[in-house]
Amino acid sequence: MNKKINKDHLETFKNNGSVFVKSLFAKEDIEIILEEIKLWTKFSPAINRNGAIFSAHDLLLQNLSIFSKSALSIVLRNDVINFVKSYYKSDIILSKIEYREQLVPKVEMPIHSDFGSSVSFMIYLNGVEDKFGSTYCYDGTHKLNHEKTKINISEFEITKANGEEGSTLVFHSNVLHKRTTTHLKGRKIIWFTFQKLSKNVRINKTLFSRESLANLTKKQQLILGISKKDNISEEFAEDLICDQLPNEESLSFVESKILLNALYKRIFIYFKTKVRRFLNILSPKL
Ligand SMILES: [Fe+2]
Repeated sequence: MNKKINKDHLETFKNNGSVFVKSLFAKEDIEIILEEIKLWTKFSPAINRNGAIFSAHDLLLQNLSIFSKSALSIVLRNDVINFVKSYYKSDIILSKIEYREQLVPKVEMPIHSDFGSSVSFMIYLNGVEDKFGSTYCYDGTHKLNHEKTKINISEFEITKANGEEGSTLVFHSNVLHKRTTTHLKGRKIIWFTFQKLSKNVRINKTLFSRESLANLTKKQQLILGISKKDNISEEFAEDLICDQLPNEESLSFVESKILLNALYKRIFIYFKTKVRRFLNILSPKL
């Protein structure tokens, strides 16, 4: 039987701005999702950004529901919807659902807030611990105005993500958080976000990729019906911070590794074909 996110978790979330739930999603469900997206987690050319793309040194599948109906069904599980609706006391909208696979080790992401008031879930598909990049959330900091309040961060308790596959971190976008140094690559997550449904949250935010919206000018955003109030750029704080950090391996290095692998594969196939032909010539014909 599936574990459920409940009222106790909601109380913790309200107080702390985050809650970590071990094994919230069943291992069997996760295996099905990974099987469904297996075909897509390769760098074949993405059409209209549908397919695997690079983002902040991760392999990224945006709009995961296109690739995995099982992912969508667990994200829209009753207990999950009820949790978020009870928090907002309002109707809600799923504004993001994506799969991320970390391709390279990464340096620590410093403490920051993503701002806003959305509720995100991060399902750790292959578990989480410090060396794979754990997220630490500073309890209660979601209630602060980070632009005006000076704080001593050491005074705050920390909620740490640490658990087996299916474990899930739920966090408020305004909570202060950081990601530990990732010594080992390979972390796989599903990251989905809900927002309170209001006239300021437009459906087109869910129809276009977040990265492509961020690159638009204010004039272009207005043409799509996205108001200045939406402040798209703040929503991309995490991606932008990722891009600015010095990385142990550059994106071009990752790309060149993939290109090299493709080249080795071609050379191998070329010689294999030649050897086969040569053996066919040598072998007596029937
Ligand atoms: Fe962040």
